[in-house]
Amino acid sequence: MPAPEKIDYTERIPNNVDIAQDRRLLRALEEWQPRFLNWWSEMGPEGFQAKEAYLRTAISVDSKGWAHFDWVKMPEYRWGIFLAEPEAGRAVNFGAHKGQPAWQEVPGEYRAVLRRLIVTQGDTEPASVEQQRHLGRTCPSLYDLRNLFQVNVEEGRHLWAMVYLLHAHFGRDGREEAEQLLQRRSGDRDKPRILGAFNEKTPDWLAYLMFTYFTDRDGKYQLCSLAESGFDPLARTCRFMLTEEAHHMFVGETGIGRVVQRTCELMREHKTSDPGDVRKQGGIDLPTLQRYLNFHYSVSLDLFGSEVSTNAANFYTFGLKGRFEETKKADDHLLREATYPVTRPDGERLVTREEPALTALNERLRDDYIADCQRGVDRWNQVIRKHGIDAELGLPHRGFHRAIGAFAGVHVTPDGRMVGEVDWKARRDAWLPTREDEAYVASLMQPVVEPGRFANWIAAPARGVDGKPIEFEYVRLA
Ligand SMILES: [Fe+2]
Ligand SMILES: [Fe+2]
Repeated sequence: MPAPEKIDYTERIPNNVDIAQDRRLLRALEEWQPRFLNWWSEMGPEGFQAKEAYLRTAISVDSKGWAHFDWVKMPEYRWGIFLAEPEAGRAVNFGAHKGQPAWQEVPGEYRAVLRRLIVTQGDTEPASVEQQRHLGRTCPSLYDLRNLFQVNVEEGRHLWAMVYLLHAHFGRDGREEAEQLLQRRSGDRDKPRILGAFNEKTPDWLAYLMFTYFTDRDGKYQLCSLAESGFDPLARTCRFMLTEEAHHMFVGETGIGRVVQRTCELMREHKTSDPGDVRKQGGIDLPTLQRYLNFHYSVSLDLFGSEVSTNAANFYTFGLKGRFEETKKADDHLLREATYPVTRPDGERLVTREEPALTALNERLRDDYIADCQRGVDRWNQVIRKHGIDAELGLPHRGFHRAIGAFAGVHVTPDGRMVGEVDWKARRDAWLPTREDEAYVASLMQPVVEPGRFANWIAAPARGVDGKPIEFEYVRLA
C-alpha cells in the first residue's frame, strides 16, 4: 500500500504509515507517547520548555517543501512517524539475499541482529538531546538558540522513528527496548548510553558545534548504510531521517566556520597571530580550535567500530546494512573475493594491508566519513586564507586518540607517528583540550539574547532561517 504523501496531523501521533489501521500498534505507541514526553520534560532543553521557538515541522515526506515553519513550544512539537515513499519493486541490493524482494517483515533468522542495530542507532538520538540540554542558557544568539532547539526536537523525532520500528516489528522485545531507550541516560554510571561518544559531556557551544559537525556526521554515515537495508521499513525510515540530519551538520559546519571567521577578524584587527592575544580579545584561538577538533573527530572515528569486524561482514552478508551509496557502486555487491586496504599498527609501525573487503566494511565507511570531514575543514581553511592568515586546521591521523579497534592502546601523534606512552603524555596538552582551554571557553559562554546580536567569539551567519532576517526574534523569551 503506498503511503500517503501528506502527513496526517489529525492523529495524536502524526504519521504517514497509517498506524490507525493497526489497533495494537496504535495503542502501544499511544502508551509510549506520555513516557516520551516525561523524558523530554526531564531531559530536554533546560529552562526553555515554555518558550516559543520558530521551528520547522515535517508536513510531507516528498523532497519538495516537506518543512513547515511556525512558532512552537517544544513540548508541543508534533513528533511523528514519517517514512520515505516506498520504492515499487525494491529488492535486497547486496549480500547473500541479493535480488530477492526487499523484506517488509523482519526475517526471523536476523531478528536479534536487526533489533540490535536499530536499538544502537535509536540510543544515540535521545543521548544527544541529554548531552545538549544545558546549552540554551549560554546561547551566543537567538539564531543559534533556535538551531539548537531544531536539532533537539529532530533528534527526539529520530527516537520516535526507531521506536516505531521496534513497536511495529519486534513485538514484546521491541516494546521493552523502546522503554529502555527512555531509561538510559548520557554519562550515567549505572545506565549509560550505549556508545562512548554519547556519554561524553557537551559542556560548551564550541563542543556542541564540533559535535554537530563530527558526531552528527557519523550519524549520517550510519543512516546512509542503514538506508540501503534489505529490511524496507528501516531503509525508508533512515532515508527520511537523513533529510533532517543534513540540517544538523549544517549547524556544525557553518557554526565552526563562523568561529573561525571571528577568530581571523580579531587576528587581523589586532595584527596578531599570538593565541594569547586572541584570547585577550575574547576570541577562540586557532590552536584551541584545533585541539577541540582533534578530540571530537577522534571520538567520532571510534563510532565506526573495529577496522576488521566479522559483525560488519555479517550485517552486510545478511542484507541488513549496506555500504555508503551501495547501489551506486559498480561491483558484485557480494564482496566475497574483494579486498580493501586497512592501516593498522604492527609492532612499532603502521602497516597497510589488503584485508577481505567484507570484514573491512567498518573501515571503508570510516574512509567515506573521513573524506567528507575533510571537505568542511577545507572550507574553514579557505576562511583563514581569505583573511590573509598563514595557518591551517587539519584532521589528525586516524590512529590518534582512539579507544576502539586496532589503535586502542597504542599512541599515535596527530601526524601519524607511533610514539611511546611517555612521549605521548608529554605532548598531550598540545593536542587535546586542556582544563585551561575548557575553562577559557567556558568563560566565553555568556548568553546573548538580543535579536541580531552575537557573542564576540562567533561571527553572524550569512543568512537567517527560512528567509527571515538575521535579527529576527527566533525564540520568544519574553
Ligand atoms: Fe539523529
Ligand atoms: Fe543529528
